[in-house]
Amino acid sequence: MSNYHIKHLEEYFQVYRKSVRNPESYWEEIAEEHFMWHKRWDNVLSYDFDKPEFKWFEGAKLNITENCIDRHLRTRGDKTAILFEPNDPKEKAVHITYNELHDRVCKMANVLKSQGIKKGDRVCIYLPMIPELAVSVLACARIGAIHSVVFAGFSSTALATRINDSDCKMVITSDGSFRGSKTIDLKGIVDEGLKKCDCVEHVLVVKRINSDIKLQEGRDKWLQPLLDNAEAFCDPEIMDAEDPLFILYTSGSTGTPKGMVHTTAGYMVYSAFTFKNVFQYREDDVYWCTADIGWITGHSYIVYGPLANGATTVMFEGVPSYPDYGRFWEIVEKHKVTQFYTAPTAIRALGKEKLEYVEKYDLSSLKVLGTVGEPINEEAWHWYDENIGKRNCPIVDTWWQTETGGIMISPIPYSTPAIPTFATLPLPGIQPALMDEEGKEIKGNQVDGRLCIKFPWPSMARTIWGNHQRYKDTYFSAFKNMYFTGDGALRDSVGYYRITGRVDDVVIVSGHNLGTAPIEDAINEHPAVAESAIVGYPHDVKGNALYGYVILKETGESRNQDNLRKEINQLISDRIGPIAKLDKIQFTSGLPKTRSGKIMRRILRKIASNDTSNLGDTSTLLNPEIVQEVMDNVIK
Ligand code: PRX
Repeated sequence: MSNYHIKHLEEYFQVYRKSVRNPESYWEEIAEEHFMWHKRWDNVLSYDFDKPEFKWFEGAKLNITENCIDRHLRTRGDKTAILFEPNDPKEKAVHITYNELHDRVCKMANVLKSQGIKKGDRVCIYLPMIPELAVSVLACARIGAIHSVVFAGFSSTALATRINDSDCKMVITSDGSFRGSKTIDLKGIVDEGLKKCDCVEHVLVVKRINSDIKLQEGRDKWLQPLLDNAEAFCDPEIMDAEDPLFILYTSGSTGTPKGMVHTTAGYMVYSAFTFKNVFQYREDDVYWCTADIGWITGHSYIVYGPLANGATTVMFEGVPSYPDYGRFWEIVEKHKVTQFYTAPTAIRALGKEKLEYVEKYDLSSLKVLGTVGEPINEEAWHWYDENIGKRNCPIVDTWWQTETGGIMISPIPYSTPAIPTFATLPLPGIQPALMDEEGKEIKGNQVDGRLCIKFPWPSMARTIWGNHQRYKDTYFSAFKNMYFTGDGALRDSVGYYRITGRVDDVVIVSGHNLGTAPIEDAINEHPAVAESAIVGYPHDVKGNALYGYVILKETGESRNQDNLRKEINQLISDRIGPIAKLDKIQFTSGLPKTRSGKIMRRILRKIASNDTSNLGDTSTLLNPEIVQEVMDNVIK
């Protein structure tokens, strides 16, 4: 796979033009050269935006685990595939070679079969970030079972909803998990959740924390004894290109979570291709993505993308703050990490701490830094650039979604000059469009609108499990012949894209369209501010006005609040214009966040609008207790 790197901006433009002039031949060439197929496709792409239906590499036969494991054994059998770094730094890291990964995945696949799992069955995986999580994912793929990984921070109710939605026959879990100085009773959560699920026949339990748990007779089994008796060889199930590979749930702006369905061949080609290019992965690199495999970032850029490239991928069980705030940087030094991929929320949290936590470690192995999941504000971008990258590592601000399966808009290191807060240019094959409210495409530069994608790409989700109509309504009905992302974006004078946030977060003030993300960027530049969230609330004269929730740094806490409010509004005035000034500013010690670190603006909007009668389910929040504090201090 050595020759599909893009190396210069000119080359990028050449490749990009070629990729959009004839997408079929572009992807066909990549699929042909870099992957292992049992049978070639009959047709590269067929699609219909109205149905909607998208098929890539139809007729091809393959197994993704042969591409991620078997084909590397001859040349890279003894290379580390997964480098497991445990929660406790005193516990030794584990290097799992490609040979070992092959044996472990085959054994696990044989165990799944012995428990009655067949091609097409759904298996729910509810595990902490331990090697068994990646092994279980790959074992499902080995035998054609559809994995549905549920992030192990979700509650029993959230777990049960997801298990029932896709009728999972099995749950793979552990006796518990380590998280910083705490342990979490995962098996207890599963037991509670399964009271509401009739579809689950078997529960396999990994022993991780050695806690005293109960196994339910006939349903639950320890995994290890089954593995001990399993053979280390398992023929891969030969899959059709469009057979489902996995389901992954993502929350909609309303209603139940959406089980996004990803299929085999297109997802494999796209996640591998983007991994290689966006991170400029080279054979001896050690790549680390700090996400959890419970999210799409972990699926595509801890497991499938890296392994398809024969890479070494780090899996970290713990948290950035344990045993102290230097933990990430200690791991970078220890394993000589070359590519580091994390979320802006982590960067902001670590940027609030003393620099000594960073300065203690040698970070000179780093070559590329990445961010994902939300817009990165300028201050955090610069902190990352200066203190982690030492101004020597390109930063890739990667925009994409659970639904897109892979990175869509991102700089390519050493090719695309990065600008803070810009995801920059579409990757080859990706054709973004900005749309206005009337459904017309806005052409040219220095414009903003709703971000759509106007041509299919290989890793797009094919449906919502059990609800194709919702798939159509959510993504293909707002604009004809377009995939609607739900995000707003602007295109600057050179064609760079900046994601301005979910369009449901755009607030129209006195007829002006204001993205909340740029206002937050401005506020976060204030030296006393750690983090902020802006929402709109109804206003008699302006239609909407802006309400700001602001978390102060320790240094800001002793300051006079009225003065701070003035300074913050002055900053906004300076950066964006007086129209974007906040009518109300509430200082708070925290913001309600999802388990993946996203601010729950829906709740903040309701509180700011004095509409707290129906806040919805707050139990799956990372910090449900903060909701009351925010309500108690609301500015009326
Ligand atoms: O609003 C965008 C934001 O995260 C949303 C997708 O969330 P999720 O499906 O959970 O996937 C996150 C990991 C891929 C998008 O609609 N988002 C993601 N990346 C960025 C971003 N917003 C701005 N900049 C990004 N780089």
